Amino acid sequence: MRILGIESSCDETAIGIVEDGRKLLSNVVSSQVEIHARYGGIVPEVASRQHVLAILPIYHQALELARTRPQDLDAIAVTNGPGLAGSLLVGLNFAKGLALSLGMPLLGMNHMEGHIYAFWLEDAPDPSKEPGFPLIILLASGGHTELVLMSNHGQYRLLGKTRDDSAGEAFDKAARLLGLGFPGGPEIQRAAAGAKSSEPFTPPMLHEGGLDFSFSGLKTALVRRVQDTPVPVVGPFAAGFQRSVVEVLVTKTLQAVGIHGARGVILGGGVAANSLLREQMQARAPVPVLLPRPGLCTDNGAMVAAAAAFRYGSALPRTGYGLDLDAIPSLKIDDVPGGYQTLRT
Ligand SMILES: Nc1ncnc2c1ncn2[C@@H]1O[C@H](COP(=O)(O)OP(=O)(O)OP(=O)(O)O)[C@@H](O)[C@H]1O
Ligand SMILES: [Mg+2]
Repeated sequence: MRILGIESSCDETAIGIVEDGRKLLSNVVSSQVEIHARYGGIVPEVASRQHVLAILPIYHQALELARTRPQDLDAIAVTNGPGLAGSLLVGLNFAKGLALSLGMPLLGMNHMEGHIYAFWLEDAPDPSKEPGFPLIILLASGGHTELVLMSNHGQYRLLGKTRDDSAGEAFDKAARLLGLGFPGGPEIQRAAAGAKSSEPFTPPMLHEGGLDFSFSGLKTALVRRVQDTPVPVVGPFAAGFQRSVVEVLVTKTLQAVGIHGARGVILGGGVAANSLLREQMQARAPVPVLLPRPGLCTDNGAMVAAAAAFRYGSALPRTGYGLDLDAIPSLKIDDVPGGYQTLRT
């Protein structure tokens, strides 16, 4: 079973082709990061226009790399939320056109569910290594920081989320403040790796707020500390900031594991590429920690196809939308799934 997954929810235009939910046949990602870097953040209107320009060449490239003809596909999957409305609509309308012209099923997918299934995407899958359910999922990305209880494939309950900035946003803002590039996460990680010392920052909301997070106070603490330091040195500030974010992410994830008797932890979203977070989670978790490859943590189409495969190939809920499938910018992880229907030609 070959599924083509389309992702255009933010600033990556991406299409991946996945066989049987696990085998990556191709995964083409066109990032707009350099265009938005000029503005220090994503400009929605610019993002939509770039998706329009990029999507068709990426589709052809993905098919070519996967050595797949359009008629060899079994279904088309597309992110229909959450994300920027204009960006989502580009991928969604492309997917509708494709599904209609090929006479194939169209699956509307939750972008965050895609981030979860990035872990299941392996070239050489070994299902025996999976710990079983329930799992605690830490989704930490540019727009989200959430703890989710996954009781089975496709079954999610939101346990906690950020009350203000996401972890990715915190990294991006801290990097800008320290004069580093965008996106900030990899830049902070690089600066921290080269630092000989670490400036201490209190991990935000570590012992309060239940399983919720808050990162805006940490950002303010960084602003103040930089202002109060005659010659701030970037490395130690980056190292201390990163350590503080990682500490709270790991502590609350492990709290959730204890409360719900989870058998494993999955990390997903761009921040899951952070090497300190990966190391710390693996060192401290009493259960297996399942990590997507760093390159699959940020947005891509293969993760959307992988998530779709678990719905398409099983009895998971499929809500029919067909050509009515709409973009849902604020779609939640525990909302009814995006949708599935064979389009009538
Ligand atoms: N190595 C890293 N360390 C920390 N943060 C990172 C790292 N690599 C990427 N990030 C952060 O991940 C974020 C991008 O992740 P992702 O592509 O999943 O977000 P998004 O798709 O924009 O948001 P969402 O998935 O919530 O809609 C950015 O904020 C970036 O700084
Ligand atoms: Mg994302």
